[in-house]
Amino acid sequence: MSARIGSLTVVGSGITAISHITLEAMNSIKTCDVVFHVVADVLTESWIVENSKESKTLIDFYIPGQHRRITYDAMKDSIVREVKKGRNVCAVFYGHPGIFVNPSHSAVKELASENYPVFMQPGISAEDCMFADLGVDPATNGCCSIEATNFLVYSRAIDTTVPLVIWQIGMVGDPTYDPQPKTSKINILVEKLCRYYPPSHKVCIYEAALYSVSRSRIEWCELIDVGRCEINGISTMFVPPLSSPEIDSYFLTKLGLSIDEGHIKSIP
Ligand SMILES: C[S@@+](CC[C@H](N)C(=O)[O-])C[C@H]1O[C@@H](n2cnc3c(N)ncnc32)[C@H](O)[C@@H]1O
Repeated sequence: MSARIGSLTVVGSGITAISHITLEAMNSIKTCDVVFHVVADVLTESWIVENSKESKTLIDFYIPGQHRRITYDAMKDSIVREVKKGRNVCAVFYGHPGIFVNPSHSAVKELASENYPVFMQPGISAEDCMFADLGVDPATNGCCSIEATNFLVYSRAIDTTVPLVIWQIGMVGDPTYDPQPKTSKINILVEKLCRYYPPSHKVCIYEAALYSVSRSRIEWCELIDVGRCEINGISTMFVPPLSSPEIDSYFLTKLGLSIDEGHIKSIP
């Protein structure tokens, strides 16, 4: 089957207003026939409106009390419909457009299955900002990144030797959209974390700066006190590792390596 007329380019606007928009995202916003957008601040929204040929916000699909799945399907349908009219469509989501963004993935999947050209360009996510602000390298020892409600409702092995990033703590246990953060169930999250970490374990409530003139919020507290912290719709929790991993002597020897104070060395 040959490629169809019409295309979708999904881009991220990053976290810090305008300054996180990549050059390739800018180019897509400026050149596509129409730009759909869901962004977190008015500066970015105005920039998109001014720099696109035509733009439409998808924010109005968020209806308080409505299941987020219905909202996401309606956003996806709007994007897909416009592509199927033969237009080159750009969809902008804040942060990275493929991280905790349902309509971006579902639109790409549906259109790709019907042979429309689809592209997803990476953006700067909240987690990227967190690694920079907290000085954490997720590759050195690994990192577990998970959505708060998902973390609660599934049983899985938690590796306390790697950092744990928990997203959407401001809406834990609520599958509907609510403009106000829902924190009534935050202590249920704390209860589960206390199965793996001592109540005194220090965790961070993190909010990356939305504007280049503002600062990120980096608030450390004991796990047991999380319920007393202010939690917002943009709060993410960072849980540092509790201990170092055990050495796997079998593979260490097989590789001809040794470990000295955490540094991996070749055996001469
Ligand atoms: C639907 S997800 C969107 C993630 C976004 N696509 C990204 O790449 O960062 C919303 C969650 O992202 C996290 N988040 C969004 N903005 C943030 C910020 N400024 N600082 C820290 N976390 C943020 C929060 O955990 C929030 O509940």
